[in-house]
Amino acid sequence: MSSNRSSFTGKIGFVLAAAGSAVGLGNIWRFPYLAAKYGGGMFLLVYIALSVTFGFALMVAEIAIGRKTGKSAIEAFTALDKRFTFVGVLAAIVPAIILPYYSVIGGWVTKYLVGFVSGDASNMAGDAYFGNYIGSVGEPLLWFALFIGATAVIVLFGVEKGIEKVSKVLMPVLIALTLFIALYTIFSMDGAWDGVRYYLLPDFSNFSLMTVVAAMGQLFYSMSLAMGIMITFGSYMKKDISIEKSAKQIEIFDTGVAFLAGLMIIPAVFAFSGGNEEALGKGPSLMFVTLPKVFEAMPGGTIIGAVFFFMVLLAALTSSISLMETVVSVFMDKFKLGRRTSCLVVLGISVLLGVPSSLGYSAWSDFTILGMQVLDFFDFISNSIMMPVVALITAIFVSFVIKPKAIIDEVELSGKFKWKKLFSVVIRYVAPVCILAILVSSVLDVFGIVKI
Ligand code: PFF
Repeated sequence: MSSNRSSFTGKIGFVLAAAGSAVGLGNIWRFPYLAAKYGGGMFLLVYIALSVTFGFALMVAEIAIGRKTGKSAIEAFTALDKRFTFVGVLAAIVPAIILPYYSVIGGWVTKYLVGFVSGDASNMAGDAYFGNYIGSVGEPLLWFALFIGATAVIVLFGVEKGIEKVSKVLMPVLIALTLFIALYTIFSMDGAWDGVRYYLLPDFSNFSLMTVVAAMGQLFYSMSLAMGIMITFGSYMKKDISIEKSAKQIEIFDTGVAFLAGLMIIPAVFAFSGGNEEALGKGPSLMFVTLPKVFEAMPGGTIIGAVFFFMVLLAALTSSISLMETVVSVFMDKFKLGRRTSCLVVLGISVLLGVPSSLGYSAWSDFTILGMQVLDFFDFISNSIMMPVVALITAIFVSFVIKPKAIIDEVELSGKFKWKKLFSVVIRYVAPVCILAILVSSVLDVFGIVKI
């Protein structure tokens, strides 16, 4: 990745590659369950507000840092100021923590695809199916191994370009299918409109600090921010392409897909459960519990379900590939390892961290860290601690070390920076203060010091 730094061929090339990395399980699996749990319309509103302020400022800053230095995260910070190398290192650790548990979820998706293809669809629509499945030891481990193994093989043999091409062609199909499933549910199932209202109309009584904490973590995760990825992408970007426009397009696209996924899942939750709190708060299992029921009720649902899970699997694979690729390239650069050795080391670490994440729902369900199951813990430590820390220090770094002007100048290489004012205010004042407040409150919450 670091040698032979080729440029993206054009504007669309950059936006598509970045959007390809951005759209994944974060949009389809993670966003809907957070929105269901943390206040529906209130969550959506907070998420959108954060994305046009924090998300925008941080994305512009990261892309500009990458393009200015022509380097990936660790080297980019070193090049700008040696004292900040540690931020690059911290950012580089994030994908290594995400990849293992991302692959556990990827394994769940694979299992559901195989289930739909092999005619097990109606079984999968049963209430207890998912719980029993993740409660078993062997099968989830097997699918996890297959998913991470496939990712490693693709990265090892360098065939990701092929997979990425296929997935880009299929992305519109995934979006169309998501919209179709949403409309089908809304117009044919009793109670679904209550879900639409819950999802689209913000109710201030549903607001809590947790809404903001969850929305912010999700923003980083979904837009691949605060983990060095956008810096690396920026380093490949040509100087005459607008950073501002690209950032806006990636945000709109990524948020659009997440929005549709919420519209597909939340009304369905209401249709099947009346929207009781327990169903809305299901967490990581929400998509797997809800969608098979929708497919069961739909004519041709088995085939549609199979196609849907296939698309989700592809989106998950392209994301896991870019996560692994990132970690592998860090190992290659930092420890001067060959590609194959790095790949095997990263695979080893991922298995080591992924197995307990998978077993956390079965054999090791009694083992918790800070009251969380292993998978939830990895999700928490990366999304709610490390990414906010990286984002906070990046904002401070831009504000006080290289100064916002350095970023603005880089952006203006390709024309006027329209949202310059917003960028400066957010990166200088709003981002540091808010991220710090959120970080402190989520830590206090976990340690049970205050309840938020
Ligand atoms: N943004 C991806 C998602 O929402 O699923 C997750 C991700 C993929 C993060 C690839 C980082 C990355 F390099």
